[in-house]
Amino acid sequence: MIFQISGIKKSYFQAGSEIPVLDGLNLEIQEGESVAIVGRSGSGKSTLLSLLSAIEDPDDGEIILHDHSFSDLTGEEKILLRAQKIGVIFQQFHLLSHYTALENVLLPLEIQCSRVDKNLAKNLLNEVGLSGREDHYPHQLSGGEKQRVAIARALILKPEIILADEPTGSLDINTGEEVMRLIFDLVKKQNAALVLVTHSLELAGQCNQILRLKDGKLMAEE
Ligand SMILES: Nc1ncnc2c1ncn2[C@@H]1O[C@H](COP(=O)(O)OP(=O)(O)OP(=O)(O)O)[C@@H](O)[C@H]1O
Ligand SMILES: [Mg+2]
Repeated sequence: MIFQISGIKKSYFQAGSEIPVLDGLNLEIQEGESVAIVGRSGSGKSTLLSLLSAIEDPDDGEIILHDHSFSDLTGEEKILLRAQKIGVIFQQFHLLSHYTALENVLLPLEIQCSRVDKNLAKNLLNEVGLSGREDHYPHQLSGGEKQRVAIARALILKPEIILADEPTGSLDINTGEEVMRLIFDLVKKQNAALVLVTHSLELAGQCNQILRLKDGKLMAEE
């Protein structure tokens, strides 16, 4: 088992009132498994991913990656964990605008202060179909190309788990299909687990299991 998530609670507070989002959520993710998470807008899917990537902390409950509880980690350890073990892909790509494609892909190596292996990044850019675009900045790339850079960045350290939050949500249908095929192929090749948030039941159907987030909890989708 990679992830063991139990009893997660998370609320936001705005103008003095509480917005409960997750309410005693449980989830287990095995090595190499793909899990789709579906649910209405506002049901807490992105919130869940921000907890799984240790960007935010739950109010209650435990998140265990292998044998380590997130609650024992310092802020710096969480940043390292995110660079090394967890690849994250967002709907809006989240590339650094003043970094080239190559530099964006190299970011996880930079964070963990390891030797900058430009060939590794070039090979990965090649694999996502972007050879020759290494020195281009995000504004010189199309949406689909930006997402390919983000995929290469998420995979460069061969993380055990990829978290993808509507990765095709801002792409047209054809580009989205290509990007999704790439994610599924590379995740399989690296034997990583995948948590895919999506509004597409067709995409969800390509995962090992589909879970619906409702009333702050996950339940198996029939
Ligand atoms: N930083 C925040 N401060 C206050 N409320 C927040 C914050 N982040 C999220 N929320 C609220 O938490 C709830 C869950 O939001 P979240 O973004 O997780 O939903 P989602 O399922 O990802 O929705 P979508 O499908 O639209 O992306 C929403 O009601 C949202 O308004
Ligand atoms: Mg969301």
